Amino acid sequence: MTETFRAFRVEKTDDGFAGHVQGLAEDTLPEGELTVQVAYSSLNYKDALSATGNPGVTKRYPHTPGIDAAGTVTASSSERFSVGDEVIVTSYDLGMNTPGGFGERVRVPAAWAVPLPAGLTLREAMVLGTAGLTAGLALEALLSHGLTPEGGPVAVTGASGGVGGVAVALLAKLGFEVVASTGTEAAHGWLKDLGAAEIIGRDVLGKPSERPFLKARFAGGIDTVGGVPLANLVKSLHPRGAVAACGLVAGPELPLTVFPFILRGVSLLGIDSAECPMALRQKVWQKLADEWRVDLTNVTREVTLDELNGVIGEMLSGQTQGRVLVKVS
Ligand SMILES: NC(=O)c1ccc[n+]([C@@H]2O[C@H](COP(=O)([O-])OP(=O)(O)OC[C@H]3O[C@@H](n4cnc5c(N)ncnc54)[C@H](OP(=O)(O)O)[C@@H]3O)[C@@H](O)[C@H]2O)c1
Repeated sequence: MTETFRAFRVEKTDDGFAGHVQGLAEDTLPEGELTVQVAYSSLNYKDALSATGNPGVTKRYPHTPGIDAAGTVTASSSERFSVGDEVIVTSYDLGMNTPGGFGERVRVPAAWAVPLPAGLTLREAMVLGTAGLTAGLALEALLSHGLTPEGGPVAVTGASGGVGGVAVALLAKLGFEVVASTGTEAAHGWLKDLGAAEIIGRDVLGKPSERPFLKARFAGGIDTVGGVPLANLVKSLHPRGAVAACGLVAGPELPLTVFPFILRGVSLLGIDSAECPMALRQKVWQKLADEWRVDLTNVTREVTLDELNGVIGEMLSGQTQGRVLVKVS
């Protein structure tokens, strides 16, 4: 008889989509070079979309969401990995249309796995998760652009969210003066604890403006929300400044003219963690384990598979703060 494992499974119902924990046979997993016993996953905005039937993320149901997984290899037909290796599996199609980390087991191509970097535990890797990787990629992009702490303040939008919180902590660790933009008053204290020098309300950058430029006040930014706040951030950059953009919770449109680009020489750097090249992915994970190591204990909440329904609802209504770690097995 094939082995079974527990998974948070989302099904299409007459009333929409519903998730619950159930036992699944291992032969329900797709073909793949690596089978991984998942210890931890984490909850990201994309998982909340997948768990509620968003067709831009997941097309086929029933489905096990979870774009993040960290665990131990239990079977491998790849020369890169052996049984017993600890790995991080994130991005690509994991948790989208491939069963993801909200199940005790995943089966994936070896090309999706990163060896757990020395210095990180499986739990710490998922405290960071895709949110941490994305914040790290954004930081790497800004540093490659030439941004330095001496250049001036750097803004982070959606600062109380998963990506935003890690971005604040990383920038502060490297000595940047961080201006955290947040609509969550309850987060002010812990954002300061993470190293934010100043906190501004979400409405400051969120106010629509017809003007092609705003007062140049930031050397750079990490934007997790898109829409009007991203446009205003680009308009508020110092000459030659740069914003790394990764998200769209405030909307996918960008109400902007070309003037900041052609008259202030600013740059908009796109961040795509899902398909980023393996060499860059491994470089950023190694930095997160080492020189960029940050303590996120106080901004992380741990939940079990059985608690996912509630916390997914909270995330979609903007009530979660910081990182949500999922203890899987
Ligand atoms: N490109 C990539 O590779 C990549 C990877 C990971 C995530 N993402 C994207 O990045 C974004 C953030 O992801 P996450 O996992 O950090 O989500 P999250 O934990 O839900 O954080 C999003 C934050 O955005 C702010 N926010 C919520 N509703 C808003 C609204 N209507 N207008 C403006 N701000 C709003 C809130 O922060 P405040 O209350 O502090 O303002 C919230 O905490 C998502 O769009 C996600 O899809 C992209």
